[in-house]
Amino acid sequence: MSTLIQSIPQIQQVCGTLRRLGKRIALVPTMGSLHDGHLTLILKAKEHADEVITSVFVNPTQFGPGEDFERYPRDLDRDCSLAFAAGSDMVFAPSTAEMYPDGCQTSVDVGSIGEVLEGKSRPGHFKGVATVVAKLFHLTQPHVAVFGSKDAQQLAVLRVMVRDLNFDVGIIAAPIVREADGLALSSRNVYLSAGQRMEATTLYRSLRLAETRVGEGIRDARQVIREMTALIQERSSGIVDYISLANEDTLQEYTMLTDGDRILVSLAVRFGTTRLIDNCNIQVADR
Ligand code: PAJ
Repeated sequence: MSTLIQSIPQIQQVCGTLRRLGKRIALVPTMGSLHDGHLTLILKAKEHADEVITSVFVNPTQFGPGEDFERYPRDLDRDCSLAFAAGSDMVFAPSTAEMYPDGCQTSVDVGSIGEVLEGKSRPGHFKGVATVVAKLFHLTQPHVAVFGSKDAQQLAVLRVMVRDLNFDVGIIAAPIVREADGLALSSRNVYLSAGQRMEATTLYRSLRLAETRVGEGIRDARQVIREMTALIQERSSGIVDYISLANEDTLQEYTMLTDGDRILVSLAVRFGTTRLIDNCNIQVADR
């Protein structure tokens, strides 16, 4: 059955009943503006549960001042059609006032893993993400929750939160869905002009370059970062915010890579007022 639920008491009641009936619940948290990347998360969730809940909530606490909270694309009717067509049983779309009523003051601070990379460029971002995801976990009582590798640091942060706060929720990662030319699908791609859209493929190309160069035996992380930066700067108008080669679990940055390391190569690049992120994982092979 396809049901839109917009109130907190109702989602609690429905999920409580599902739990008592012994049903497995999967949650797919989103901010809406759904695209094929989100829809693959719903498909993956269906493999792991009897009931899939997709949440659609543009969470104000994870946006910094001057970021795109106000202009973030919103279309709940479209999101419901897409989520239900992909097999979601429910869409949970609460209002901001219900999620953050006056006087709401508790937050989840995940510590240092939320302060590097995206967290450094966007102070407070992961506090907002962890807080809203913790609330969504309490409200929907999922057995599993599915997140995209597109937001690799978000995944790492939420794994730490689940571990540290003893949430009984399995975190499942889904691969990045890309356009044919390599650009990772993102709700923010709609902000790009035609020219910026073409130039944005340099993000993926620079990740492929990193893979190639590490595969060829380069172990100096700064050299890889220099070459990636040069590719983006020479072939686009993008301004590099950061490029990082880090341990994929702890997010501690490498200066020298060692055979056997599993690294997360991640980057953020601005095209005008639009900030795009992307990443890939590389296993440093023994030579
Ligand atoms: P949002 O940006 O809407 O993304 C929702 C989920 O979709 C995240 O897990 C994200 O990693 C995944 N996703 C986005 N683009 C993807 C792509 N191209 N391929 C695969 N997965 C992709 O991430 C958030 O919302 C919020 O921070 C949220 C977790 C909902 C908390 O507010």
